[in-house]
Amino acid sequence: MQTQSLVGGKWIGADDGSTLAVTNPATDELVASVPCGGAAETGRAIDAAWGAFKPWAARTAADRANLLHKLSSLMQRDTDRLAKLMTLEQGKPLAEAKGEIGYATSFLDWSAEEAKRLNGEILPASAPDKRILVLRQPVGVTAIITPWNFPAAMITRKLGPALAAGCTVVIKPAEETPLSALAIGELACEAGFPDGVINIVTGKPAEIGGAIFEDPRVRKLSFTGSTSVGRMLMASASKNLLRLSLELGGHAPFIVFDDADLDGAVAAALACKFRNAGQTCICANRFYIQAGVYEEFAAKFATAIGGLRVGDGFEEGVHVGPLINDDAVTKVESHIDDARAHGGKLLTGGKRVKVDGRADRFFAPTLVGEMSSDMLISREETFGPVAPLARFDSEQEVIELANASEYGLAAYFFTRDGARTMRVAEALEYGIIGANDGGPSTAQAPFGGVKHSGFGREGGKYAMDEYTELKYVSWKL
Ligand code: SIN
Repeated sequence: MQTQSLVGGKWIGADDGSTLAVTNPATDELVASVPCGGAAETGRAIDAAWGAFKPWAARTAADRANLLHKLSSLMQRDTDRLAKLMTLEQGKPLAEAKGEIGYATSFLDWSAEEAKRLNGEILPASAPDKRILVLRQPVGVTAIITPWNFPAAMITRKLGPALAAGCTVVIKPAEETPLSALAIGELACEAGFPDGVINIVTGKPAEIGGAIFEDPRVRKLSFTGSTSVGRMLMASASKNLLRLSLELGGHAPFIVFDDADLDGAVAAALACKFRNAGQTCICANRFYIQAGVYEEFAAKFATAIGGLRVGDGFEEGVHVGPLINDDAVTKVESHIDDARAHGGKLLTGGKRVKVDGRADRFFAPTLVGEMSSDMLISREETFGPVAPLARFDSEQEVIELANASEYGLAAYFFTRDGARTMRVAEALEYGIIGANDGGPSTAQAPFGGVKHSGFGREGGKYAMDEYTELKYVSWKL
């Protein structure tokens, strides 16, 4: 297990020797201690990234692509080890953690191929003796700040396109899950990335962020996390006019029309809501079911939820692991209490689950009926395993309900009507739409939100725009 920060190709501790404890959310046991770095360590990481930037950008695209593919294949080789590490520090079931490693490597491979297609253009000029060239160049040193819910994939989704474009990076992983990041760093060294191209600093968020915002050599920040932190980062980024990609919170509506394939919708709802114990930015947070199928959907969904097993992520057959910390459990409880106080009906779950010898952080997958717009859960992200259901009558009504949110990350709907599919997809004010699909995430698609869910897109060719600048050359012959 790698437990040091990576700066300029060297593994280092914090200057003052201080450390940050990484604990297993399922047991509260200490997993490891990592450096509690701050401004000084981040400054040296930026020095290293700055020093490595020009030589890295000058390499051929094929050369950068080969290294990205190499990192991907090393991660695939070590899937079991990386997945165990992830379950240890994050809690998600081992099978899900393995799936995340595959998802994480898909971003490296896709970006590697995009590196080779990063074309410029020659435009028709307005004078016979002129030529207009448009060059695409890397933005420069890039800061990457990632969350704890997907400790590997949220790094590679940014790292892949940044490196493919020719940027060098300073990564600050979440305090809860630095070990996955450091393991990826170690494999990057094995793959042969030059020193300074990838730097990873673990430690104090405010100090690390401060050093990033104060240093004019950093030209870009890519962040995934909460909307409240995103707002603060955006304010701080104004000092050096840092380019930003912000993938922030969500509050996804999940709509089931009465002509939908109900069994398909239930299966999608189960996967979409309860993956990672509901701790996913794009997971469904509020369900709108057309009145004619409400009772049937609720009954089928409750039965399916009853088949989910809660437990330690290392146990065979477990579907739902622990929540990340005590605050997360408290928030889930407060949403359920508030829903019940406002007339919500508990259909299944609703309480903590005792798992022998484990921390009190396991929560039963929960279904609440009769959601109304005065409930907290109808407007706030729960980030936990709770599905609230509301009835609706018409298409127009449900589009208005779905769009009545400050968030705009993902939305889902289920129908067999082709024309409605297009109408509703166009009308929903969200960056990602799952039409009869509860799992839209994939490496080639543009992932990102609108409104208070942020801006910028990750994935596919679209991600390359986030890490490149256009330069216009007006050439007089
Ligand atoms: C997220 O929670 O933002 C990541 C979800 C995904 O990539 O599917």
